[in-house]
Amino acid sequence: MKLVVAVVRPDKLSAVLEALFHEEVRGLTIGRVQGHGGETERVETYRGTTVKMDLSEKVRLEIGVSDHFVAPTVNAILASARTGTVGDGKIFVLPVEKVYRIRTAEEDQDAVTPVERAVRA
Ligand SMILES: Nc1ncnc2c1ncn2[C@@H]1O[C@H](COP(=O)(O)OP(=O)(O)OP(=O)(O)O)[C@@H](O)[C@H]1O
Ligand SMILES: [Mg+2]
Repeated sequence: MKLVVAVVRPDKLSAVLEALFHEEVRGLTIGRVQGHGGETERVETYRGTTVKMDLSEKVRLEIGVSDHFVAPTVNAILASARTGTVGDGKIFVLPVEKVYRIRTAEEDQDAVTPVERAVRA
């Protein structure tokens, strides 16, 4: 199992979600974050210390997948989040040691794969 962590442009979120859905990726967490990707730096003063910071609004996606889903997930993000100009973002693939589905106490492979049958409550 892997955790795919992607930081993308907010205005690419819809396209990314659509691409992931198309690849049958289900189950993800997103959050709005601020990030620094080495772009133009401006000098600001913070408590007398001069620091260089350039934070831009990004969206972070976290997607837990079984190993065979890593490539389709990454490729979907690469294809949908790209503009070709600096700041398109990053994708990290992290090893995952354990996954638990809380409702059923299923573990790992059984837990990472969303249940297709509709159980909504
Ligand atoms: N090494 C990193 N670690 C953690 N987050 C990062 C890292 N690099 C980039 N990010 C996140 O990704 C966002 C976008 O990064 P960015 O697209 O500028 O990456 P980059 O490698 O500089 O690529 P580019 O050359 O296209 O700018 C950043 O604002 C930050 O949130
Ligand atoms: Mg950058």
